[in-house]
Amino acid sequence: MTRTINDIVIAGAGQAGARAAEALRARGFKGSITMIGDEPHPPYERPQLSKAMLQSAGTSVAYIKRAQDWNETLDIRIETGAAAIDGDADRRVVATADGRSFAFDALLLATGTRPRRLPALEDAQIEVQYLRNIEDALRFRRHIHSRSRIVIVGGGVIGLEAACAAAKGGCDVTVIETEARLLPRAFPIAISDLVAKRHRSHGVAFVFGATVTGSSSRAVTLSNGTEIAADLVLVGIGVTPSADLAVRLGLPVADGIAVDACGRTAAPGIFCAGDVALQRSRCHGRAIRVETWANAQNQAISVAGNMIGESREYGDPPWFWTDQYDLNIQVVGDMRDADRITRGDPDSGRFSTIAMRGTELVGALSVNSAKDMAMLRRIVAADARPQRADLESPGYDLRAALKT
Ligand code: APR
Repeated sequence: MTRTINDIVIAGAGQAGARAAEALRARGFKGSITMIGDEPHPPYERPQLSKAMLQSAGTSVAYIKRAQDWNETLDIRIETGAAAIDGDADRRVVATADGRSFAFDALLLATGTRPRRLPALEDAQIEVQYLRNIEDALRFRRHIHSRSRIVIVGGGVIGLEAACAAAKGGCDVTVIETEARLLPRAFPIAISDLVAKRHRSHGVAFVFGATVTGSSSRAVTLSNGTEIAADLVLVGIGVTPSADLAVRLGLPVADGIAVDACGRTAAPGIFCAGDVALQRSRCHGRAIRVETWANAQNQAISVAGNMIGESREYGDPPWFWTDQYDLNIQVVGDMRDADRITRGDPDSGRFSTIAMRGTELVGALSVNSAKDMAMLRRIVAADARPQRADLESPGYDLRAALKT
């Protein structure tokens, strides 16, 4: 028997939680919606925390909606500063750390991720921070303006965007990366090299193949024995899924919460979307967590409909962008372990690289070529199969690929 959905609870008030809540109302859901978030703010845009917010002191937080619009216009109750920590999947109830209970007919887990901690810097005397929320961004911005000596651990998206802002702000910046190159998770080597070159031209120093193993009050020690003087250490070494609530609810949790294409978890009435969801990706050929703003938004919108009886499958290929100096780099799908075709001249600073496995177009990356990327995203999403020879031809119009 289908259960009538009167009360919906959303655990997590980030991009995914907020967009799901909006989508429920947009689709005409008239019952109660309660969104529970542990941060003291209504939902806000996170990408700018490592971009515009750091670059200019005048940039303030972009809230997805003003607090009163959630309540008054959409009749959505937001519980800020409240962590949903416990629950019972059979009784359909979740509980917050302050002892309150919230009954639901359908629950969305949109609890996201948290920064991976670096054990060597726990209880350190030197100032250490992560970059995840508004307070972190404001704190880092203050350091930029006082022209600190900054060590950044992790040469991924967060570390490099922070390095860019700090270098432009006149800080002395060193990035420590365990792998032999930058952004090893998503970028081909040539792009890692291009990004490193741009950073070096702005004075950023790199140490590859090393990590931080210890610290004093004004320096860090690296695994290769070197000491680097610093006023602040920023750690950006990836994230881990926030799945404690899912565990309490008895859901199977691996590197995230497994969902089907409709966002359903193993428990009836419990759905999941955003960074914490472990979902099948065609491009990767396996289930992955998609840690991107676009996924948090679009998967959540899609899953919201399924919470109230729709049955729509979500399968957008992962897509993200990073802005560093004059480089806008966008990636769709999976660039690893594939044959690559370059379109455009890398020396011109504007080009795209397409990744193919057999006849399948599994990914693409663009450097300062947003228009190409808009088309490539559509091609990958449609699982179109253009001929390799066509893609290699400079005169080939990508629009034609959509008809293949
Ligand atoms: N020491 C130095 N480097 C490390 C260590 C370590 N102990 N552990 C991991 N790294 C490196 C990884 O090799 C990788 O290059 O840190 C980098 C982390 O990069 P990402 O995985 O991109 O994670 P991060 O930059 O923290 O971004 C976290 O925020 O913007 C979002 O979507 C983005 O998923 C990303 C998330």
